[in-house]
Amino acid sequence: MRISVIGCGYLGAVHAACMAKLGHEVVGIDVDARKIEELSAARAPFYEPGLDVLLKEVQETGRLSFTTDVSAAEGSAVHFICVGTPQKKGENGADLTYVDAATTGLLPYLSAGDVVVGKSTVPVGTASRLAVLVQAEQPDAHLVWNPEFLREGHAVDDTLRPDRFVYGVSDGSEEHPAVSVLDEVYSTPLAAGTARIVADHPTAELVKAAANSFLATKISFINAMAEVCEATGADVTQLADAIGMDDRIGRKFLNAGIGFGGGCLPKDIRGFMARAGELGADQALTFLREVDAINMRRRTRVVELARDLCGGSLLGKRVTVLGAAFKPESDDVRDSPALSIAAQLQLQGAVVTVTDPKALSNAARRFPELQYEVDTSAAVLKADALLLLTEWQEYRDLDPYDLGSAVSSRRILDGRNVLDPAKWRAAGWIYRGLGRP
Ligand code: UDX
Repeated sequence: MRISVIGCGYLGAVHAACMAKLGHEVVGIDVDARKIEELSAARAPFYEPGLDVLLKEVQETGRLSFTTDVSAAEGSAVHFICVGTPQKKGENGADLTYVDAATTGLLPYLSAGDVVVGKSTVPVGTASRLAVLVQAEQPDAHLVWNPEFLREGHAVDDTLRPDRFVYGVSDGSEEHPAVSVLDEVYSTPLAAGTARIVADHPTAELVKAAANSFLATKISFINAMAEVCEATGADVTQLADAIGMDDRIGRKFLNAGIGFGGGCLPKDIRGFMARAGELGADQALTFLREVDAINMRRRTRVVELARDLCGGSLLGKRVTVLGAAFKPESDDVRDSPALSIAAQLQLQGAVVTVTDPKALSNAARRFPELQYEVDTSAAVLKADALLLLTEWQEYRDLDPYDLGSAVSSRRILDGRNVLDPAKWRAAGWIYRGLGRP
């Protein structure tokens, strides 16, 4: 099939490459000329495991091209909208400028039978509003909402082998003409057994908002338990292991630590609360305010613990932060708790060095006032305290004996609870975890 993908960021670039991998002829469109230049040269403009290799592989087949010219969408049967929906400045709601611009920019190039497929995370009600625009321009075109559930760091695999597809169509029915078109797009994963649910527009939009709210709630739940563990001397990692054995609860997303960040969970729960307020259903989601508050409290707590670890004052203390990305296997620093903690420590007088295998240039653009060092051994040299804030495998594997001779004081705060406290203590370190004795 001929497919256009509008928006080539973390979502769209991966989606375009994966659709070509599935055998389709794909054009990726973005207004950012630098991104298009990189992608055209088969280079990923951001770090995502496997994406570079996939781009090279599919570009050799001639099935994938990139352009800044939206008219290239003409002739495609399916048009995916993959642009960002960031949080509005100074407000909780989502900024739909890019979704609206992508859709209206596409309208002149639609033909009868085309299907416009929204993948971006949008406030409920957006799909029905955009469907009216599409139908006014091209009465025989359709608009589907098909939310994306990919996780950064696993984006290629999550796109090629998702756990489910949700198609939101205007009448919510299996017989809607867009359903068979999307079935053809996704024929390979569907044949491999991926489940699919056909729903109406608002249900499909809400599935995404609800899924991210649930994940955020799960993380804040365990972080709230970590606060109670800290007050009682209990161990939140053991608690999570024990409650996670109940398969109604499950162990995933019960890792207590510095909290969630990234370009999705924080802004999606805020956008969801804002939209519920507009709909007169704000009471239903007041608990998400608490989820957000628990999450933000983790960052303050880590700064307090770091101060304790440094003997009561951060002034002039050399602190090395291991990890800047919001999660491992990503270079994304949007709303990264690690970076926001690093900046707080600096504001409170510490001399902060941040290291990360992939995210340093993005971090330096956001917080130019921090000091960055790509080499871990150089970053930890003469440190008064280490803070492990993003659990990259190479930080999990650090050897406390080797590291002990490089630092000035053997003190470590494990913001992700991924190190073995007994091992670090045996090597002479003062070890502090979160919600652990
Ligand atoms: C998330 C959703 O998982 C995905 O389905 C959706 O499409 C987009 O948002 P992503 O932002 O890539 O994906 O990251 P995710 O793996 O969900 O992690 C989010 C944050 O939660 C990270 O900062 C991570 O470190 C944190 N986290 C996750 C925890 O603190 N504890 C956990 O147990 C799990």
